[in-house]
Amino acid sequence: MKLSVNQDQLSGELETLASFSSVPSPAVTRIVFSEVDLQARAYLKSLCVAARLAIREDAVGNTFARWTGSEPALAAVASGSHIDAIPHSGRFDGTVGVLGALEAIRALQRSGYQPRRSIEMVLFTSEEPTRFGIGCLGSRLLAGALDASAGPQLKDRDGATLDQVRRGAGFDGRLEDVRLDAAHYHAFVELHIEQGPLLERDGIPLGIVTAIAAPASLRITIEGEGGHAGAVLMPGRRDAFLGACEIALAVELAASSTGAIDTVGTVGVCEIFPGAVNSIPSRVRVDLDVRDIDQARRDGVLRRIEEVCREVGAKRNLAVVSEILNVDAPAAATGFVVEALEASCRELDVNFQHMVSRAYHDTLFMARITPVAMLFIPCRNGVSHMPSEFASAEDIARGAAVLGAALARLAS
Ligand code: HGY
Ligand code: MN
Ligand code: MN
Repeated sequence: MKLSVNQDQLSGELETLASFSSVPSPAVTRIVFSEVDLQARAYLKSLCVAARLAIREDAVGNTFARWTGSEPALAAVASGSHIDAIPHSGRFDGTVGVLGALEAIRALQRSGYQPRRSIEMVLFTSEEPTRFGIGCLGSRLLAGALDASAGPQLKDRDGATLDQVRRGAGFDGRLEDVRLDAAHYHAFVELHIEQGPLLERDGIPLGIVTAIAAPASLRITIEGEGGHAGAVLMPGRRDAFLGACEIALAVELAASSTGAIDTVGTVGVCEIFPGAVNSIPSRVRVDLDVRDIDQARRDGVLRRIEEVCREVGAKRNLAVVSEILNVDAPAAATGFVVEALEASCRELDVNFQHMVSRAYHDTLFMARITPVAMLFIPCRNGVSHMPSEFASAEDIARGAAVLGAALARLAS
């Protein structure tokens, strides 16, 4: 189905969405349930109302905008992504999948198409781990991969619980009611920037994602002994930061020596206490991220990191405690959803290639309750999670057009 996607409108809406940020352009910071996140949500809902979609918000702020089909009792087809953005990042990660889904629906409406199955745009809450330390918070709750105990347990860095923060943002239902059962959706498709260089390198305008790598993250707390940086001599120091450094280098070594290029390890957060130049670090917290498309290989790296924590603790007389924040299985796309995307690419004469996603997405958890697949569009130099993240209006519009054609196939 050849759809007329309104490229200028879609680009304009992405720019408006990017303006809801707690840092100046071109960077975007939009932390879940922050003031700018709530403004962005209100803006998005206004667009959904203008498109005459029925809006539902659940207890954690997942937002569902439904175009009711001619047979509303049938399981719906859904598409969506996230609008929260990590600090000082870009304007296309997630937002392309939310506004792209909305424009795909509007283009179908303009074409006179009438879906048999309802079609729903989904905005997932807190795909990024920034505030509560775990990614895909909203889609985990939808898929039952996290339960209502997360409400009082998950805390942000100010000690506010997820329950306190979500209720303060106006989402005060029961987290128990967020979960969707497996029959709720017929299929789910997420449009997203690739966050890697392959499509641009190969000159291919679209990727069909058939698998999503298995992500894991740990929080390691290292306790040593503080003291005056001038008065305490080197022998016998129990410097917590130096222990953290050895562990961080071991993460790099473990991830680089699995024999596979698909294993990655990153220490992205390091907090030093008391954090004064003339005070020996007595406590350090590091958060680290380990991924691989092969779950067993990833788990081998995690085991090695645990060993290193014990070794460094013994060698440096430090108390080293590691806590698992998340250890998730990889996800695979489902055949008929992939075929719908392939058929739509062929129909629209769009060249495509199959890919693996090394970034995780809400699709990773939607795959637990419904058949899924993803569409990738190129992003310049593969850059993401940085202000220079860029996807062209043409690539975004093309992704929305293929998405729209695929949604029509799946909802007919
Ligand atoms: O970290 C990720 O893979 C995603 O961008 N949140
Ligand atoms: Mn991201
Ligand atoms: Mn994303």
